[in-house]
Amino acid sequence: MSSAVDAMFKPFTFQGLTLENRIAMAPMTREFSPNGVPNEDVAAYYRRRAEGGTGLIITEGTTIDDPVATMGHNIPQIHGEKPLLGWKNTVQQVHAAGGKIMPQLWHVGMARNPDNSPHSELPSVGPSGLLKPGKQVAEPMTHAQIENIIAGFASAAADAMRVGFDGVEIHGAHGYLVDQFFWEGMNERTDEWGGNMANRGRFAVEIVKAIRAATSPDFPILLRYSQWKQQDYAARLVDTPQLLEEFLAPLSDAGVDMFHCSTRRYWEPEFDGDDLNLAGWTKKITGKPTMTVGSVGLNGDFFGAFVGQDAEKRSVDDLVERLEKGEFDMVAVGRALLQDPQWANKIRHGQHDQVRQYAGDALATLS
Ligand SMILES: Cc1cc2nc3c(=O)[nH]c(=O)nc-3n(C[C@H](O)[C@H](O)[C@H](O)COP(=O)(O)O)c2cc1C
Repeated sequence: MSSAVDAMFKPFTFQGLTLENRIAMAPMTREFSPNGVPNEDVAAYYRRRAEGGTGLIITEGTTIDDPVATMGHNIPQIHGEKPLLGWKNTVQQVHAAGGKIMPQLWHVGMARNPDNSPHSELPSVGPSGLLKPGKQVAEPMTHAQIENIIAGFASAAADAMRVGFDGVEIHGAHGYLVDQFFWEGMNERTDEWGGNMANRGRFAVEIVKAIRAATSPDFPILLRYSQWKQQDYAARLVDTPQLLEEFLAPLSDAGVDMFHCSTRRYWEPEFDGDDLNLAGWTKKITGKPTMTVGSVGLNGDFFGAFVGQDAEKRSVDDLVERLEKGEFDMVAVGRALLQDPQWANKIRHGQHDQVRQYAGDALATLS
């Protein structure tokens, strides 16, 4: 093993789960699950990454049991007999290859275009029915809808545990439903689900509590969150460490076991005057384990990927340094691992030069 990257290959234990190393596969939507059922191809795709030495796989977003949770016919679901059998097979294959795997639980909220989605007759749902800030296209969610969706996350987690997943990640990032509650721009409610930070965080807090109640005291619960939104790349949830603390404390208290802090470039400081990135601040504030993400091994961020841009390789030396300092505990890798399933093994053996070059057309096949 190349000692230069030792810190990435130390096991990590939290919530009774031991991961073989610090590398996680970042969740990446593929839309290769016909009618929401993850098939043999999906299982083989994740198995390849486990065989390639990835310590933890976080699946693509997989939608909970609500008719308007999904925005595509081929996005995998995590409810119903066939999808759950498909996931069970995926879990078994990843475990057989020595990996660990968690599903990313997803409700897309107002990001859904009914015309391209199952149940096109139904309107999309969001805290205030806004398509984007200031643009109202639907009624605000009712209390019954809110309660049903919280229950949907809980039953998805219970099913995930039943089919053998090693934990779950709640998708609370990028402007999808959970983040629509967090973000003032999309949440104009004046009841207990909107307004101040505590109220905007309540939806996620209740999801975490419901998942805990439906699973077991030691079932790992991850929460992914981000400042940026797909509706507005420049949007921010918080501008100071104090506000970040106000945001995170109730989530941490509710039982989040690890925060997955989604940024575009892990080397960028989150606030002026300190080098810590978002995962660094989150760990410092909550004392909980954190996972960083964003352009690991690459020099161009992933927004470029959606317009077919290539990205050159970038050294992981500064990442290793941050891991060694304990700024964060885990590192999620997106595109680099999409392009090269053997990424972790190659990095481990000092073969960064042999990692496949990231090409912009990787998104066409997602294989
Ligand atoms: C094709 C593609 C699909 C993605 N789908 C998801 C998703 O389902 N859930 C999610 O939280 N992030 C998703 N992301 C964001 C990635 O998880 C990751 O945060 C981002 O690609 C940055 O990591 P990278 O620079 O290593 O690629 C996606 C990214 C890509 C490129």
